[in-house]
Amino acid sequence: MRILGIESSCDETAAAVVEDGRKALSGVVASQVDVHALYGGVVPEIASRAHTEALCGVVRGALEGAGLTAADIDAVAVTYAPGLIGALLTGLSFAKGLAYSYGKVLVPVHHIRGHIAANYLASPELEPPFIALVVSGGHTSLIKVEDYTKLTTIGVTRDDAAGEAFDKAARVLGLPYPGGAAMDRLASEGDKNRFRFTVGRVHDAEYDFSFSGLKTAVINLVHTLKARGEVIEGALKADIAASFTAAAVATVCRGVERLYENGEKLPLVLSGGVAANSHLRKALSSLAEGYGVKLYVPPLSLCGDNAQMIASQGYFELLSGAKAPLWQNAYACMEA
Ligand code: KG4
Ligand code: ZN
Repeated sequence: MRILGIESSCDETAAAVVEDGRKALSGVVASQVDVHALYGGVVPEIASRAHTEALCGVVRGALEGAGLTAADIDAVAVTYAPGLIGALLTGLSFAKGLAYSYGKVLVPVHHIRGHIAANYLASPELEPPFIALVVSGGHTSLIKVEDYTKLTTIGVTRDDAAGEAFDKAARVLGLPYPGGAAMDRLASEGDKNRFRFTVGRVHDAEYDFSFSGLKTAVINLVHTLKARGEVIEGALKADIAASFTAAAVATVCRGVERLYENGEKLPLVLSGGVAANSHLRKALSSLAEGYGVKLYVPPLSLCGDNAQMIASQGYFELLSGAKAPLWQNAYACMEA
């Protein structure tokens, strides 16, 4: 079964064709990063307009890349939640029009489930049940994947997402948006023990995450240093990046570690934009090794937003009977 996936929840317009949920035949991403970089973050209205402009070409590119026409595909899978509401509506409306005009099934896909499915493409042998850790610009969640379409949330962030904390820390250090990847590189050059940031914890929920304290702490540190006349450059800048990254990685790992400490035995599956972080990958790999569980990590190309992951999850949703009506709505929130 060949599924065309469409993704437009934030600042990437993406389309892809995936066969039987596991084999990507094509994948096209039009990134809006350059447009939003001017403002230091995603401007929702500009994102919606840019998706509208890019969708036709991106979908055509994905079909041509797979050597297919719209008539050849079996279904259209589209992200319906969560994300920027205007951005989601552009992709959803396009997918509805395409599905209706070609008489194809429309499959609604939750963006977080899509991120997890990136691993079905990267690791053909991976099957539920497993524990998924989703770390992205908008989300940080620990989820038990009991089956392809049966997921139970174990822990979530109570405030900011991991990626948001990376982006805000990068911004205060003067790195261009989105700063996650630049922070990763800068942190490799610095001394992580120079500044001590508190690891975020939520007292009444051991698997939940919190990043807002860490975000505020790094911003306050930089402002204080600047007020003292320090120039945030060179080794000082790298040491702040390294110290922040160590605390952010420890914050992500804390909930995961508690879960395995409490006896969890299932494999650990990483996903989301922040899954590209080399320091996090290293820390999770030694954590998994310590508890004797297998760790699945997607390739860098499937960490950030893409449509292969939406088409992959769309396949499993379709097998379980999920079909969207033409009045399907988009939802900004997680719980949709
Ligand atoms: O999954 P994604 O593309 O979008 C959402 O669904 O939110 O994640 C984007 C996030 C951004 O915050 C970006 O800075 C972050 O992933 N990111 C990284 C790295 N590469 C991307 N964060 C830390 N280290 C990286 N290497
Ligand atoms: Zn995402």
